[in-house]
Amino acid sequence: MIKPHGSNELNPLFVYDSAKREALQAEAEKLPSLLLNSAAAANAVMLGGGYFNPLTGYMNLADSLSVADKMHTVDGLFFPVPIVNITSETGVKAGSRIALRDPNVKGHPVLAVMDVDAVEDVSEDQIAFMSEKIFRTTDPEHPGVATFNSLGRTMVSGPIQVLNFSYFQTDFPDTFRTAVEIRNEIAEHGWEKVVAFQTRNPMHRAHEELCRMAMEQLDADGVLIHMLLGKLKPGDIPADVRDASIRKMVELYFPPNTVMVTGYGFDMLYAGPREAVLHAVFRQNCGCTHLIVGRDHAGVGDYYGGFDAQTIFDEEVPKGALELQIFGADHTAYSKKLNKVVMMRDVPDHTKDDFVLLSGTAVREMLGKGIAPPPEFSRPEVAKILSDYYQTLDN
Ligand code: ADX
Repeated sequence: MIKPHGSNELNPLFVYDSAKREALQAEAEKLPSLLLNSAAAANAVMLGGGYFNPLTGYMNLADSLSVADKMHTVDGLFFPVPIVNITSETGVKAGSRIALRDPNVKGHPVLAVMDVDAVEDVSEDQIAFMSEKIFRTTDPEHPGVATFNSLGRTMVSGPIQVLNFSYFQTDFPDTFRTAVEIRNEIAEHGWEKVVAFQTRNPMHRAHEELCRMAMEQLDADGVLIHMLLGKLKPGDIPADVRDASIRKMVELYFPPNTVMVTGYGFDMLYAGPREAVLHAVFRQNCGCTHLIVGRDHAGVGDYYGGFDAQTIFDEEVPKGALELQIFGADHTAYSKKLNKVVMMRDVPDHTKDDFVLLSGTAVREMLGKGIAPPPEFSRPEVAKILSDYYQTLDN
């Protein structure tokens, strides 16, 4: 099986030994607390599950600046995005041991225990520098930049031990998986070549077909549909609705035992190309050999070119930094001429009018009015689940 990023074995930071975990929990109740923001909590959940292997905790300022700038730590470890605990709390002491509390669960239970190596001030210039590098913009209207700007100006770094998986395991018991669990499941299936599909949206016919095309062209053993379960921007479809619609699609339109439907506990960054590389790192940690990267992967608005998230792998990821390869997909849509979903690069004779193209806004409007999008765009069973959800909203 493909090796994890940066080490031979996966080193999840969740404490699997239940006696040790209970002892840590008891100790944590007496430690000074830091209430995390959602971004730092999501990082802890990802570190806990082995997704951010081989990191042992939150990065310090020198590593964060280096990673933002050149995608490697001061010591040369390839990593696409700083994994940080930036806070507005200023009372944390370097050298202390603290309990990290979960902002997303009632009562703020302890999510992790941290040995604080350093507490560093982050200047406005450093925030702007990292923002420009990670998001390619400092525009405060960009949702990822807005979140990054809002975290605070104090960086708390050091190793952590993770005690639970926040609300993800309780709210999505059938779908939330750690990288460890996904690796194990892939091994149980006996799959060697596995293609991951990243998603934060419901899956329409184009997405379904992208999975099928990748599977066929790569001669893969299986597909990992891996959906984001964390926070999104307002207006995006909640995870439970996406989950139900994706499961229905897989049940009806894929052969049994070829697709794993899973999710991970992370908030969307909307960092386009850099987030695509982060996606590649953590799918390799899950045991996937390929990741589908299509049009405007992890993008938002007009901040990124349609295929920037593919070119970054050729232009900025050093050769050999990752073992996983991407499956770069062109804009995919239903061809009225050929009566099937195609990639536009494969049908050079087509004009725009030959495709069934609908904007996200148009689809939302239709579903909001209880009108199903055409079956060429959306499977009727998927459309039904989405339409039912929209009917529950105040239109
Ligand atoms: S993402 O933010 O998680 O990337 P989304 O769930 O919309 O968003 O997309 C999942 C994957 O499908 C991404 O790799 C994206 O580039 C790709 N994709 C979505 N729609 C299309 C399309 N019509 N043509 C090609 N690729 C697409």
